[in-house]
Formats: sequence, structure tokens, C-alpha cells
Amino acid sequence: MRKLIEQPQRQDNESPLLKPTKHESAIRQVMGSARYVDDIPVPADIAYACVGVTDVASGTLTSLDLTNVKQAPGVIDVITVADIPGHTDIGPVFEGDPILVDSEVKFHGQPLFAVLAATEEQARVAATLATFTIQPSAAILTAEDALSANSTVRPQHQFGQGDAEQALQQAPLTAEGTLSVGGQEHLYLEGQASLALPEEDDRVMIYTSSQHPSEVQKLVAEVLGVKLHKVTVDMRRMGGGFGGKESQAAQWACLAAVFAMRQRRAVKMRLPRMLDMQVTGKRHPFENTFKIGFDNDGNMLGADITVNGICGHSPDLSDAIVDRAMFHVDNAYQLGATAITGNRLKTHMVSHTAFRGFGGPQGMIMAELMMDVVARQTGLDPLTVRMQNLYSESKGLTTPYGMTLEQNILPALMTQLTESSQYWQRREKITAFNQQSPIIKKGLALTPVKFGISFTAKHLNQAGALIHIYTDGSIQVNHGGTEMGQGLHTKIGQIVAHEFGVELDNIEVTATRTDKVPNTSPTAASSGTDLNGKAAQNACLTLKSRLAALFADTHGVAEEDVVFANGYVTAGAHNIAFAELIQQAYMARISLSATGYYRTPKIYYDREQGTGRPFFYFANGAAVSEVSVDTLTGEYTVDAVDILHDVGTSLNPAIDRGQIEGGFIQGMGWLTTEDLRWNQDGKLISNNLATYKIPAVGDTPQHFNVSLFDRPNAEDSIYHSKAVGEPPFMLAISVWCAIKDAVASLADYQKDPDIAVPATPERVLSAITALTENNDASA
Ligand code: MTE
Ligand code: MOS
Repeated sequence: MRKLIEQPQRQDNESPLLKPTKHESAIRQVMGSARYVDDIPVPADIAYACVGVTDVASGTLTSLDLTNVKQAPGVIDVITVADIPGHTDIGPVFEGDPILVDSEVKFHGQPLFAVLAATEEQARVAATLATFTIQPSAAILTAEDALSANSTVRPQHQFGQGDAEQALQQAPLTAEGTLSVGGQEHLYLEGQASLALPEEDDRVMIYTSSQHPSEVQKLVAEVLGVKLHKVTVDMRRMGGGFGGKESQAAQWACLAAVFAMRQRRAVKMRLPRMLDMQVTGKRHPFENTFKIGFDNDGNMLGADITVNGICGHSPDLSDAIVDRAMFHVDNAYQLGATAITGNRLKTHMVSHTAFRGFGGPQGMIMAELMMDVVARQTGLDPLTVRMQNLYSESKGLTTPYGMTLEQNILPALMTQLTESSQYWQRREKITAFNQQSPIIKKGLALTPVKFGISFTAKHLNQAGALIHIYTDGSIQVNHGGTEMGQGLHTKIGQIVAHEFGVELDNIEVTATRTDKVPNTSPTAASSGTDLNGKAAQNACLTLKSRLAALFADTHGVAEEDVVFANGYVTAGAHNIAFAELIQQAYMARISLSATGYYRTPKIYYDREQGTGRPFFYFANGAAVSEVSVDTLTGEYTVDAVDILHDVGTSLNPAIDRGQIEGGFIQGMGWLTTEDLRWNQDGKLISNNLATYKIPAVGDTPQHFNVSLFDRPNAEDSIYHSKAVGEPPFMLAISVWCAIKDAVASLADYQKDPDIAVPATPERVLSAITALTENNDASA
């Protein structure tokens, strides 16, 4: 097959690649004309669905009387699990997620039945009218109870290097501790929403706000008891997903589809916010423990770490999420001998799910906690301890799961940030400030991120694309990824425009559809551009080779010399406008449509042995955060943040910067104010924005400086760029460390304050009290 070589380096003034092009939907989003599922014009016969939910966390359903629901105004249909024509379990990887309660009640707020009514309001009212009895049983609601009852959704997994036990015994210094890490509500601006339209016979069309259209297609087909080819799923854009729509968008699409087929009419299901918060899974809370050994100079010698993910009632994606937590407990550090254990605890709660970082943050924070503990115990500055424990040639470059770091850029990146942020000068100023400021104390921390890029489920690392060139030279691109605000479609558009050497407005990236590119992976693991960008580029290369052959034949030049740039196709002295060559190709009966495909090379993981190369590469970054803590109230402000982040060669510096800023702020919310609370009955009580606080614009640091670390990815990723969606989230760990740093100043940095995540003002205040009381007692 003839194949052109990609030419990223060539002179192309018009190419939009590597430029800060605005998001393809920016103007439509600001104008309010960007269309979401709830904006799609609906047929006249549209009806609305809602679910009625349980009011206990654990038990057996003994009676369910739906008379009042059926008689409520506007009600058209009511279904229970008995009315589902096909599969009733919609677990994405493993079984365990009944579409509606069967007889066993698994959590407070579990959907029990669904109702269809003429208006959205009528459906929501009717959903509250059922009478039912649940014989309650003891609910497991804490990690402690789950551990002692050996209650898990999946078996434990372990890996490590060397003999950790021996290393801990022989180490001159040791420490141990625990950390509670809270979960997080996704709070996507657009809630879960699906629209189902019945087509001929048993065919159905689904519009859904989902990161995983192919899985929705499969589950809808299974629930209806039809083959996959009967179901088409369309997804133009989400108003945010953040992992919350990777697996958990499917249930609402399935219920809408069941009603649509029963009633042969259009059905929409859009969850009201409080119901959305109650019935969908969140970031996993974790209860972690560590034991470490180190020397007097702060060098790590060994670590024994257990991460306990609180998974809720079913496996959902938890096996991979706890694995990713385990893969990141080292973060950027050579820990010496390691023993890493991960438990997947089953509780009577909503099933926790993917959320930006996918367990990585809940693991990575352990590494930063351990660095702080070593610093306090040795009297060294935390940055000194961090720098000297980084992976390096001399320390070793092999992770606890046996993967060797090939492009180790953090030593250089962190050195650059230390200088550009004037870390040491600021440290001196803060020391001086704290000495003369009795109540307000300042804290500073610089922490790195090393985040593994690839799905750890190997088969998901593949993608497809479909490109059509129309006879006027305009181009449509379709690919397997979904747009959730992260700018994936913009980057794909830039890639295709660059390959054909045409302007961006020549490219239309169309809605993700299962009938255009089949069997797609979820848009997740930050790999949207890596996978779909390469697939789209491969489709371009196929089309370019057809076009170049035609051009070469016509002009008697070599195919290899044909260049696509600045809206023209050129070889030597010959050139022609791109649109004109397309006309010629059409007249010469050359196909102007092609598919592209890509799979990530090099990756494998032997789970049995706990070793391999689960990641194609690592994305890196580091952040310095400075905070002020009011020691009388525990309140604090994040005053200054400097970030240096590694996106390889940036495909779009504006979009990458947006991802870094947004990810950091979302991470800061997780670590500081977003406090999920369940009551003793297992009911979520932080179920609206009055009781659950996300960062507001006023929480943005006064000084917020983001720079890109300009070094191409050493791996052959798309134009040597790097994934950016999730890694910056974990830069916010520097905020948590800076708060601890400020509090530690109260006890002369001798002790690492014990502050669980999120570090709410209440928690900060009780850490201050604990630290100063200890001090008084020992004085
Ligand atoms: N950015 C916006 N604006 N909205 C989102 O929902 N999701 C994040 C991240 N950035 C998200 C976002 C998550 S969890 C992932 S995995 C990646 O985007 C997915 O997109 P990508 O693979 O194209 O980076
Ligand atoms: Mo992102 S948590 O991988 O959807």
C-alpha cells in the first residue's frame, strides 16, 4: 500500500495546528445555541420518564403498590423490573447493577420503578406516590465495617518490588499513618439526560449525554432483547462528564428506550439535580494506610501501602479504579522496596464510578503525604525530600509494578518551576511572615504529578475514524470520541485541517454516532485525542495517498513530493487548489471517503505477576501553592498558584491551558470544600448546592500562573503531544500540602498535621487544636 509520511515540521502558514484556536463550540456555547440532549426539538407525542427510589439502604422489597402512581394525573405507563423485556443487569464490566430493584435493596435512593407521563412535572410527582415495604437488614456504610465483614465487590490485588517488610525492619527511621480521602460529586452542569425515538419495527434511536455511546448501544440492545445493529446512539456534546457519564449514563437511556418501545412514542428522561446527585455514583472515597522506612537524610527505603476503595454496592468500574489508585501511590518517587495492596470494599451505597483521575488522585495523595511525613521527621524542607526521592538513574527508574520510566522529565521540570516560582525566596519570606503574624499563618508547597496514560484495560486502547470529503472540498470527520467541553473535537479538527493543508472552517466534526464508527471505547483515561487523533490522521493518510497518486499521475511527479499546505496541493512547480483536486478526483472516480484505525503500541500488564507496562507514557507537571490560614477559625485562602505542566508538544495551547486551569480548580474543590455526607441511614445528605460546596469564581487564586513545559513526547503519540484531561487535577494536591505546611508552622514544623481530605475549615481548625494542645502539654 502506498503511504505518505506525516509532515508536522513542514512550512504551512495556514495550518491551525499547535495554535491557540478557540473551542469549536465556544461561540455557540456563549450564545446558548450549542445543542444538548434537552435542546433537541422533540416530536409532538413526546412523553417524560422519571424513577421512584428506595428509602432504606439495605433490605428486601416485600411489597410494592403502584396504584397511586398509575392514577396520578398524566401518567401513561409504569414499569418495574418484571417489565424489562431483555437483560435486567446493566453492569458495564461485571454483573451487579440491576436496572431497577429486583428484590434486594442495595442503597438508599436505588431506583425501584419508572413512570412515564405526559409532562416532566407529572412524571416527577407521580414517581413519589408509590407505597412499598422494605424489610430492612443491617447496612454496611463504612470502610471499617466492610473490612471486618470482608465485604468486597472484587478480589484484592497486590504488587510490589523487593522485600518491603525487611526494608521497614532495617530502616533507621520509620513512620506509619492513615488517611481518609473523600469522594466527589461530578456536578456536571448538564445532568444525566436521554431521548429515545422508536423507529421502524424494533429499531430505536437514542440521543444521550454519555461518554460511552457504544456501551449505551450495547446495554439498550440487551435490555430490549434485540441485536446491537437495531440500536443507534447519537452524542453531539455533553455539558460536562468528568467520568460521571462513562458508565452511569446508560441506565437512563435504557429506561427511556424500554418506554419508547412499549408505547411507540418518543420518551425523554432527564434527572432533576437532587435526584441525579442521589442516584449516580461519585468519586470513590478511600481509607488508606501506610508504613514507611527512610534514613536520616530523608531517603525512602521501603513502603507498605494499602488503599481501600469504598466502591458502593456493585463493581461498576471499581476494579480498574482501585488498580489505578495502586499504580499511583508512588507518584513520582522511588520508594525503595514496596508492598502495595488494594481492596475493593462493598458498601450499601450508590456504586461509585469514574471521576477525573480514575482513582489516581486517591492513590497519589499517599505519596505526597509520605513525603511530608519524612520532611517533618527529618527536619528537611518538604521540597528537598521530594527532589531527592524522585525517580532517577541513581535512585532507580522502576515503579512498584515493574515499569521503567523512559522519559524522566520531572527532575528538570521541578527544578525549572522551583526557580521560576522563586520557591526558596518565598520560603524565607513566609518564615519571616509567620514569625511576626500570630494568627494568620502562611504555607507553601511544591508537588509533582506523574500520571500514567492508557486504559489499564488493554482492549480499550483502540479507536476509529471516518472521513468524507465532499465535492466542494469541504470535509466531515467522525470519530469514536465524545465532546464534553474538553476540546477533543477542536483538536481533531485541527489535526485533519493540518493533514489536508486546509483551513479549519473547511472541517466539520460531527456528532459521535455508533452507526458511523462502531465499537468505540469510552472517552476517558484522557486518551481521547491520543487515540482518535491518530485514527483520524490515519484516515487522512489513506485519502492523501489516493489524492497524491492522482496528482502525481497527472503531472508526472513523484507521489512522495506531493505536499498538502496552505489550501493547495503542490509538487515542484505544479500546484492546484485543494477543492479543485477534489473535483478532479471525483470525476476520475476516486473514493473520497475513508476510515482510519489506531491501537496503542507497547502496552501490556500481567496482573497475575503484578508487572508490565500498563502505560504508553506518563504525563507530568508540578504546582506551587501558597495559602494563608486563619488559626482562630480554620478558614484559609489559596493566594498564589504557579503551574508548570507537561503536555508534550501542545496541539492547542489555549485548550490545554483551559484543561490545566479547570482541572486544578476541580482538584482544589475535591481537596478543600467538597464534603460528601451520608447520614446513619445511608442517605446522601449533601445532595444539593446548599449542602455541597464546589469552588466559585471567587476561590480562584489571585495569582494563577500556568505555563507549558515545552518538550515533545518521546513516544510516537499524535504529533508528540501528551494527554491533558486528567493529570492537572492532581496538581491541586499542592494546596492540601500547603495548608498542612501553614498548620505545621504552629509546631515548628516538627509534626505533619493530620488533616483528612477534604481539608474543610472545620478539619483544619481541629488539626490546629490538636497540634497546639500537644505542644502545650509537652511544654
Ligand atoms: N473537561 C471538561 N471541560 N469537561 C469534562 O467533562 N472530563 C475530564 C477531562 N476534561 C472533562 C474535561 C475527564 S474525566 C477526562 S477522562 C478527559 O477530559 C476526557 O477527554 P480527553 O480524553 O479527550 O482528554
Ligand atoms: Mo475520565 S475519569 O477517565 O472519564
